[in-house]
Amino acid sequence: MKDGDKNLVKNIVILISGGGSNMQAIVQASRDQQWAEKYGAKVACVISNRPDAEGLVCAAALGMVTHSVDHRLFDGRIGFENAVVEQLDRYQPALVVLAGFMRILTPDFVARFSGRLVNIHPSLLPEFTGLNTHQRAIDAGRTVAGATVHMVTNALDHGLILARVEVPVLPGDTAAALAARVLVQEHVLYPQAIAALLQTQLDQGKVQHAATAVNPN
Ligand code: GRF
Repeated sequence: MKDGDKNLVKNIVILISGGGSNMQAIVQASRDQQWAEKYGAKVACVISNRPDAEGLVCAAALGMVTHSVDHRLFDGRIGFENAVVEQLDRYQPALVVLAGFMRILTPDFVARFSGRLVNIHPSLLPEFTGLNTHQRAIDAGRTVAGATVHMVTNALDHGLILARVEVPVLPGDTAAALAARVLVQEHVLYPQAIAALLQTQLDQGKVQHAATAVNPN
């Protein structure tokens, strides 16, 4: 980043529902790899739809700002999402990162954050969208499982694939054992994919600046 760009901080907001181990890996990578210096980006806050999510405690321990928006307090999906959007709008996020966020999003929400909404799914997409991915991979006799980072669209677990990691299925594997090994790889994959996206956003910004300099009209 150039010095003049340093005050243009891009906010990343992470949405979680549970343990938040991917969230922790992303926050840690953002600090270790100095995303603020490299990409002008920082993780601004962590939002959970479950007030009792273990990930909220971990996020606070990392010094993160946290918010909880309890989906059970709203009659429907739209009321809940409006409350989440209210929080998100305060940060004007350049990226909204779903990290184990277990709510299906409405088309309005997806459209509002289109191009800025990413997810990690614990399978090698396009195979095994939805739940119980590890058991389904074992039952189908797959010898390789894994995880995928993708842009979020209206179709569940579809959208442009940004990165995938393969993890071997071992003889006698259980879903829990496979999930644990995949999760370790998710912690490497997700920060890498987000860093690559931030670099792309930076490059696109430079191209736009260059175009404006050549043709100010
Ligand atoms: C991960 O396996 C992720 O791929 C899936 O849910 C799990 C979340 O784990 N969507 P954590 O909350 O990040 O520990």
